Amino acid sequence: MRRGFFVTGTDTGVGKTIVAVGIARLLYERGIKVGVMKPIETGCELEAELPHDGKLLAEAARIEGDRKWVVPCRYAEPLAPLVAARRETRPVDFDAIQKSWAYLTGNYEFVIVEGAGGISVPIRENYTMADLALELGLPILIVSRPQLGTLNHTYLTAHYARSKGLKIIGIVISGFNSQTTDVAEQTNPEMLEELCQLPVLGKVPLTAQLETVEQIAETVQKGVYIESIIERCDDCF
Ligand SMILES: Nc1ncnc2c1ncn2[C@@H]1O[C@H](COP(=O)(O)OP(=O)(O)OP(=O)(O)O)[C@@H](O)[C@H]1O
Ligand SMILES: [Mg+2]
Repeated sequence: MRRGFFVTGTDTGVGKTIVAVGIARLLYERGIKVGVMKPIETGCELEAELPHDGKLLAEAARIEGDRKWVVPCRYAEPLAPLVAARRETRPVDFDAIQKSWAYLTGNYEFVIVEGAGGISVPIRENYTMADLALELGLPILIVSRPQLGTLNHTYLTAHYARSKGLKIIGIVISGFNSQTTDVAEQTNPEMLEELCQLPVLGKVPLTAQLETVEQIAETVQKGVYIESIIERCDDCF
């Protein structure tokens, strides 16, 4: 593997999967051999070949034979990994995550990893999503909401990531309405750059139809500066 990044968010449900899926498909369409991974997915059917996020990611990168590596660790309840692990009395399987990671990095030139929830979500005692990104040796991409409140959430995410020694590629805002009359939403992109000292590499438009990978990729393409993401990512390696 030459490069890759870890998609985190300022919260659960901010658009990490939408952004990761869109970028994965756009890279694939550029002829890049892109692998994908959701190391821990919670709130999923344990018997399914792949759970929700993992399935979309695999479809985006058109992964067929290597699907078993995409989501190495799963829990049924939609909870933070440590909480789900305790309730199922089954700790997060780091061996499985490492095996998947070794396979994907050995077989793909670019790997996109989606975290679960936000950056400080606990995975085991004294070990958060940030520790996992560090262990995988990946820079992070922060997905943020456009609305009031995002300055605080995004700054705290960036600050915590930096305190852990992570490199940050930049911020992508998902659900951006370019026609908004809301002053917070109008001013947030610029203020995020100033406050976090990071580039906003994309403003994914607020879109009603986001079900298929094709719809997601088309939407992400409208708002994400893919060249800048690749360039910033290369600078982190
Ligand atoms: N640009 C957008 N326009 C409209 N809806 C969006 C947009 N981005 C994200 N959403 C919607 O927000 C919801 C959450 O998005 P998504 O699943 O990508 O979040 P997530 O951060 O991956 O969540 P999780 O923590 O569960 O993995 C989805 O229903 C998605 O379609
Ligand atoms: Mg997701």
